[in-house]
Amino acid sequence: MSTQEKIKALQALNQKIEASGGQKAIEKQHAKGKYTARERIEKLLDAGSFTETDKYVTHRCVNFGMAEKEAPGEGVVTGYGTIDGRLVYVYAQDFTVLGGSLGEMHAGKICKVLDMAMKMGAPVIGLNDSGGARIQEAVNALSGYGQIFYRNTLASGVIPQFSVIMGPCAGGAVYSPALTDYVFMVKNTSQMFITGPQVIKAVTGEEVTAEELGGAMTHNQRSGVAHFAAENEEECFAQIRKLLSFLPSNNLENPPYVESGDDPERIAEELNDIMPDNPNQTYDMLDVITKVVDNGEFFQTMPYYAQNILTGYARINGQVIGIIANQPKYLAGCLDINASDKAARHIRFCDAFNIPIVNFVDVPGYLPGTNQEYGGIIRHGAKLLYAYSEATVPKITLVTRKAYGGSYLAMCSRDLGADLVIAWPTAEIAVMGAEGAANIIFRKEIEAADNPVEKRAEKIAEYRERFATPYVAAECGFVDQVIEPRETRPRLVNALEMLATKRESRPAKKHGNIPL
Ligand code: HXC
Repeated sequence: MSTQEKIKALQALNQKIEASGGQKAIEKQHAKGKYTARERIEKLLDAGSFTETDKYVTHRCVNFGMAEKEAPGEGVVTGYGTIDGRLVYVYAQDFTVLGGSLGEMHAGKICKVLDMAMKMGAPVIGLNDSGGARIQEAVNALSGYGQIFYRNTLASGVIPQFSVIMGPCAGGAVYSPALTDYVFMVKNTSQMFITGPQVIKAVTGEEVTAEELGGAMTHNQRSGVAHFAAENEEECFAQIRKLLSFLPSNNLENPPYVESGDDPERIAEELNDIMPDNPNQTYDMLDVITKVVDNGEFFQTMPYYAQNILTGYARINGQVIGIIANQPKYLAGCLDINASDKAARHIRFCDAFNIPIVNFVDVPGYLPGTNQEYGGIIRHGAKLLYAYSEATVPKITLVTRKAYGGSYLAMCSRDLGADLVIAWPTAEIAVMGAEGAANIIFRKEIEAADNPVEKRAEKIAEYRERFATPYVAAECGFVDQVIEPRETRPRLVNALEMLATKRESRPAKKHGNIPL
């Protein structure tokens, strides 16, 4: 073959591989409202930045007629490129090729991407759209999954790992996404489940659609498996890019600083009026957060799950912060099993990736009920204590109103290692609410009174006056500053600047044993 012929052969081979499973399969993919693997990569990454790797990999299976079956790109497109100019590694399963099924060599391509990302210290984004283990490859396909799980685990806490579900993701295949940091789903076109509707019907008789069982909202609202839900693939790519803008590329870097143009000394007068006089009346913690952070921009993670706690990212004076906030609008901001899990995971991610944590606290206690007790609120609630105590990044706690009992401690109190505790004058830091406390400690006095109703009200007021304030805690040094709400932003700017050089170490150990 002449050189020119060799070049032509290469061009033909590239064309064949880039045509994926062929025009018919691509049309079928589009008809479902889904882009192909290559289109997805183009849309996700900076224009023209993608470099493909392992394009020519082929399977080695000869079972069940596989020797004659071609699988362009082995059913997965892999490589690297940039998002906002920063290096990322990516793989996209190609459903048009053998249903994106995962065989030994397909898994090998994904593993190579994970290995490269680890060496270079760059995030990995996996676009999942697959019929699962390639059935013809039997145990070799299972081994492929095992190798991916192993690498996901080793990479955890070293580089950010995102899993994007853009089609079926069933059986054991769901466990790679579950091991990664963030799971994105697209409404109506992505589903995750261990056993599908047919198996469930056969075994338990339950009838459920695939979307009800494992669709985007099921996992965003009910199970907590997924962190983001998008209306369509474009919106999903925008969410991925946005999340990345807050994160460092690896655990040795700091998160990206961005000049926000928002005045660090900005006073938010509205905050002095935000707190209702009646402690049983609610307000929206989102209003507090958005008035404090740069340009009001708060990017929530898991916005549909455990809405009694808010988690996410924002910037203060250009510096990325992770936010944990009780939301009095939902369940009065009580802590429960799901809120504890949601917050603990966010804290651990922030700590692993050098993101300071700012807590907005208004918590009346733990949600009472047999559901919570039988569900293990003791075990799940302990995760929150563990995660805060373990975290060595700067930790700032702002108490806006209630901080009672065990939940006061759990929301990053001084005793769990808060570097700075700031309170509004509306803060109520006490062992319990005034009504409950008065009923217990003044019970005899109330019962003996001529007018017990009047006496109870008097005792509640007395307790509230003395203890439902930030000053008892401040007198003991548990609160560092009591500030006017309107000064919150400059105070947080100041606190973050002061804590920028924080260094704190923990005893050397193999790893801790967080209650799971
Ligand atoms: C090999 C597969 C495949 C698989 C799909 N295909 N899944 N080939 N192994 N797992 C092939 C189909 O044969 C078909 O090939 C092409 O991909 C497209 O599939 P369709 O069925 O035509 O597509 P659609 O109607 O959209 O249905 C998609 C689907 C369905 C719901 C995913 O294909 C399906 O149920 N597949 C099997 C799912 C499954 O049971 N997987 C194994 C799970 S066990 P042709 O040549 O006809 O175009 C597992 C264990 C992992 O994953 C354990 C890890 C620890």
